[in-house]
Amino acid sequence: MRYKIVAGNWKMNLNQQQAIQLTNDINEYLSNHDLARQVKVVIHPPLPYLANCVNYISEKNSTTFGVGGQNCYTQASGAYTGETAPEMLKDIGCQYVLIGHSERRKYFNENHSLLAEKVDKALEAGLTPIFCCGELLDIREAGTHEAHVEAQLSESLFHLSKADFSKIIIAYEPVWAIGTGVTASPEQAQDMHAALRQVIAKKYDKDTAENTTILYGGSCKPANAEALFSQPDVDGGLIGGASLKADSFTKIIEIMTKCVKTM
Ligand code: 13P
Repeated sequence: MRYKIVAGNWKMNLNQQQAIQLTNDINEYLSNHDLARQVKVVIHPPLPYLANCVNYISEKNSTTFGVGGQNCYTQASGAYTGETAPEMLKDIGCQYVLIGHSERRKYFNENHSLLAEKVDKALEAGLTPIFCCGELLDIREAGTHEAHVEAQLSESLFHLSKADFSKIIIAYEPVWAIGTGVTASPEQAQDMHAALRQVIAKKYDKDTAENTTILYGGSCKPANAEALFSQPDVDGGLIGGASLKADSFTKIIEIMTKCVKTM
């Protein structure tokens, strides 16, 4: 099912009190504003605050406002010191999990096959994986970015059955745009999202491609959200820096709602 999603990846930021306050502020915003039916809001707090943040979402907002982990492991339990099972995320009330963020690929050497396994286990646990993909600057400059991102999908997702692939959300995050203040232009985002839909259609079918939610991430903020979200194949954003403050994040939610209503 294709949704419009505004997701906040808090990365390794905020303390407990700030995390609760931010969750509370977003919850309050959602309680006081009508979002379009297909708009969803997700936050990815740091692991130690996850359970607490879940508890600050009121019952009334529970279908709109979801919480996700930033990572998970490939096992349900066992002697894996420091790791978190997808079942544990599910157990504390998470619905989503980020898989394959470029920071995980870069700093923790997560490769295609590990990511494929994480996707499988997250699905088995009943979580919705938000699968991140995107190219480095040199790949963009060489003009091979589409092939690169298509390979990321193909190697970590295309082993899935059509039914399982339909549960995946994709986030296209060009690495050169993450945390740099440089955003992909709306045209660059649209071109990549359209290219991804084409490879999904080729692997599965047109319906599956049309129903896949594809988010954009990389320096997305109130000033550029409307231009990005107005693109036909951009279904929302995975927001880093601008998700750490209630005013900028709720502004982006407001822009998403406006874009949906004028579509
Ligand atoms: P920024 O919005 O800070 O560029 O981060 C994007 C991101 O990595 C979200 O996962």
